[in-house]
Amino acid sequence: MKKNTLIISIILLAIIGCQKSTGIKEGRKDIDRKVDSVLNLMTLEEKIGQMNQYNGFWDVTGPVPSDGDAAKKYEHLRKGLVGSMLNVRGVANVKKVQKIAVEESRLGIPLIIGFDVIHGYETQSPIPIAESASWDLEAIKKSAAMAAKEAAAAGINWTFAPMVDISRDPRWGRVMEGAGEDTFLGSKIAVARVKGFQGEDLSSPATLAACAKHFAAYGFAESGKDYNTVDVGTSTLYNTILPPFKAAKDADVKTFMNAFNELNGIPATGNAFLQREILKGRWNFKGFVVSDWGSIMEMMAHGYVKDKKDAADLAVKAGSDMDMESYAYINELAELVNDGSVKESLIDDAVRRILKVKFELGLFEDPYKYCNEEREKSVIGSKEIQEAALDIAKKSIVLLKNENKVLPLKKSGQKIALIGGLAADKNSPLGSWRLAAKDNSAISVLEGMQKYKENELIYAEGASVAVGATNFINEVQVNLTDTSKFNKAIEAAKKSDVVVMVLGEVGFQSGEARSSTSLDLPGIQQELLEAVYQVNKNIVLVLNNGRPLTINWAEMNIPAIVEAWQLGSQTGNAVAQVLYGDYNPSGKLPMTFPRSVGQIPIYYNYKNTGRPGPKKEVFWSHYQDETNKPLYPFGYGLSYTTFSYNDIQVSTQGKNVKVIVNVTNTGEVEGKEVVQLYIRDMIASVTRPVKELKGFELITLKPKETKTVTFTLTEKELGFFNNTGAFIVEPGEFKVFVGGSSDTSLETSFDFL
Ligand code: BGC
Repeated sequence: MKKNTLIISIILLAIIGCQKSTGIKEGRKDIDRKVDSVLNLMTLEEKIGQMNQYNGFWDVTGPVPSDGDAAKKYEHLRKGLVGSMLNVRGVANVKKVQKIAVEESRLGIPLIIGFDVIHGYETQSPIPIAESASWDLEAIKKSAAMAAKEAAAAGINWTFAPMVDISRDPRWGRVMEGAGEDTFLGSKIAVARVKGFQGEDLSSPATLAACAKHFAAYGFAESGKDYNTVDVGTSTLYNTILPPFKAAKDADVKTFMNAFNELNGIPATGNAFLQREILKGRWNFKGFVVSDWGSIMEMMAHGYVKDKKDAADLAVKAGSDMDMESYAYINELAELVNDGSVKESLIDDAVRRILKVKFELGLFEDPYKYCNEEREKSVIGSKEIQEAALDIAKKSIVLLKNENKVLPLKKSGQKIALIGGLAADKNSPLGSWRLAAKDNSAISVLEGMQKYKENELIYAEGASVAVGATNFINEVQVNLTDTSKFNKAIEAAKKSDVVVMVLGEVGFQSGEARSSTSLDLPGIQQELLEAVYQVNKNIVLVLNNGRPLTINWAEMNIPAIVEAWQLGSQTGNAVAQVLYGDYNPSGKLPMTFPRSVGQIPIYYNYKNTGRPGPKKEVFWSHYQDETNKPLYPFGYGLSYTTFSYNDIQVSTQGKNVKVIVNVTNTGEVEGKEVVQLYIRDMIASVTRPVKELKGFELITLKPKETKTVTFTLTEKELGFFNNTGAFIVEPGEFKVFVGGSSDTSLETSFDFL
């Protein structure tokens, strides 16, 4: 018997020996016993190996690397000095690396295989901010479940998602990856995504371990510049930033990722307050924390540590369990333990957490569980997954304006000009986190509209958005000058009854490291829009973008505007079905659209200040050159029908407050409405925002139908965190607002005793 086979047998015996258990609590104890039985066999080096994560480093189907970094990593894999790999995908590849870990290392501990399955694997669903606009938690959960199913069929068992960073700054390109600006909505979506990815049974080959990221406050980067300094007060930290993470933890998310940013002077990766005191202490999180890419060594650049050894020392003490690509743990931790600086018990704690997740994923039972070629072939790109992607894509679309009933388009007898650099684009709709998607695999708007054959469709690009090919790692070169295709587009518009213009950002203009100081339509697209408008005013503007844009001119002049984000693989079908009225849009903005960059940060749940105004004289909180109002508020979105809200009533029953409202479909067609409830705590020991979302419900109403919607507010919704992080509920007057957006005026009030 080979040495490693003998040890594997010992592990298996240890595992089987403690398998007879029932109930969740017993199950947990059972896993803890299994974890300990493995830990007891490990050398210090092997333990540190579990805390080491490498990026895929060689083309696994090619020859074994013989020199340089890759050879070293390969050697580490064989020696059991790697606990996880990221960016290895596809059954053949994953099997190959897993085989080395399992069959060639001394203990044969399986790898956990991570990947950024952000909004799909090969099939892309809408980017997360778009999905969030659906406010449809079931659909969001399903979308995550489909992404998990597809990724798990490709050998992956851990996703670096959901990103639950709240952000109020659309200059920050990563707003595309989150749920927007609101903590309540963001927390609900965090839970839906975690549950979708992880499913009911983590050991199923169709689910992934999820990862709540980036802990914490990454979305508050100063001036919206990625990776930038974050300095926020306790009230914002406890009430706005942390709750979605806590919700993910309560939904049993298995892992957390820390963040690139510093928070109030301490890098998140070396931040014991965040990771030890809050996450593992107050919240009692039992999973593990992975660093962000290289974030342990980046503490040197932050000016927080002098070298990698110091970085490893502080990171492990602060509670970062796994090192993604800093090579700090694997190179420095053993010495730190041996010289007494780091206690081995800290290493044991980290390794226990990592092994526990591996056990829960079923990797010890079968390390090749996620490596089934048949499943890979039948699941990836399957009809079920495509259909789910189309369903959520339609639900993510937000109708921003529809004057003169330009929409829905008539299905026959129309001449339609389709114009814009993004109209025939099959790549941009996939977004920027689409690492496993095939290039140019999305259905374009052109293709979607071509399916409606009874109209005449004339396509003219007008102007490309970018110059040359775009990709994940390089800056997008925007077309600033080439107007040579304008004329053709103008001619097409002249001859048409309606013009559909698909404008906005290419996929790689939002996402990581894609901060912007301008939120106008990039390049010469505004010029194109105005040129077309000169010859045909009957325009439907379809926006493709990963963040709110400042489209004031369009809002003033263009009769119909559709926010279609980047909707993934099924983009064209979803957009066409909405434009033609086969699907009545119901999305609502999860993030405020500003009028100008100067208004940022602009968000609906601001504080009143001591000088809210408006006043006749200038001494109130305002701008002299711009209104305080956004272009479109949070929660806003139209439908092809209209809704009215009436008869708001409130009653208190002990510690519960019931709010009832009647909602009527006052239009001609069936429609779906997101009924939103906001509160305002009028006087509090820490001031509260002028409005806070505390409930929402999706309802479908036939024409003229009325439904009564009931919300129950409990202490959970009425309380808040004070500046020590304690959750408190204070008696006093509350206002309640109900409506179809945060800018609603239907209100009542109650006293909470
Ligand atoms: C990002 C993370 C991501 C990681 C791995 C980092 O640059 O910030 O969100 O999960 O890379 O790809």
